[in-house]
Amino acid sequence: MVKAARAAGRGLARDFGEVENLQVSKKGPGDFVTNADHRAEDVIYNELSRARPGYGFVMEERGVVEGTDKTNRFIVDPLDGTLNFMHGIPHFAISIGHEREGELHAGVVYDVIRGDIYWAERGHGAWLENWRLKVATRIKLTDAVLATGTPYVGHAPERHQLFWSELAHLTQETSGIRRFGAAALDLAYVAAGRFDGFWERNLKPWDIAAGIVLVREAGGIVQELDGGEILKTGNILATNASLAPKISAKLATAKSKLPS
Ligand code: IPD
Ligand code: CA
Ligand code: CA
Repeated sequence: MVKAARAAGRGLARDFGEVENLQVSKKGPGDFVTNADHRAEDVIYNELSRARPGYGFVMEERGVVEGTDKTNRFIVDPLDGTLNFMHGIPHFAISIGHEREGELHAGVVYDVIRGDIYWAERGHGAWLENWRLKVATRIKLTDAVLATGTPYVGHAPERHQLFWSELAHLTQETSGIRRFGAAALDLAYVAAGRFDGFWERNLKPWDIAAGIVLVREAGGIVQELDGGEILKTGNILATNASLAPKISAKLATAKSKLPS
């Protein structure tokens, strides 16, 4: 998985250089970015299917590819943080999760521009290169820096309203809220103890599969915001054990205060 991420990352880094030029062109970087995304996914798919023949895939661009081995599959986002990439903002990642017998087993998040590989395997810890990752130990919400993701154009008004309510309940209680634009990296940052927590709704399995393993292996808690199945709903809270009940209580209040 690391090898596949590095191979695809080389292409993305090259393409990112080109995007910076296209910013100023009339046509803009839209189609070019879509192609970069597909190219990266092809590289990952080819590398992984050569290394682990028969494994299945869930990929953002290609969709589901059934494997002959029904117990193993990879969950892949070839470019997480597309909007950043498209705008020349150097904060995006490749995310590769590995699910075994229905459980998330391993994950790699590759911060392409910084060259950082975050990786974790069930029972073996979470790592940034050779540095063992540990979630932050802050216990007071007022000391916490949280990350989130915002809804945007095209999303239903209710989604925006729920987000505003969540924000209203958390800005008054925390040190700061960040929105960096790549969910896989948000989770890697929670694992690394940089963010004290991260929440977002309606994410896709490829945004979070690898990051969930990272946070759990770094000693953190990952939970679904309303008690559902996290890879199905994509409503995620990732933090440490002390902050989890505090943040989820605030988010529950934020939801209950919405007009029905
Ligand atoms: C997006 C990023 C972003 C999150 C969005 C995702 P993409 O993934 O993870 O942080 O807020 O909901 O869709 O589209 O850049 O792969
Ligand atoms: Ca994504
Ligand atoms: Ca993507």
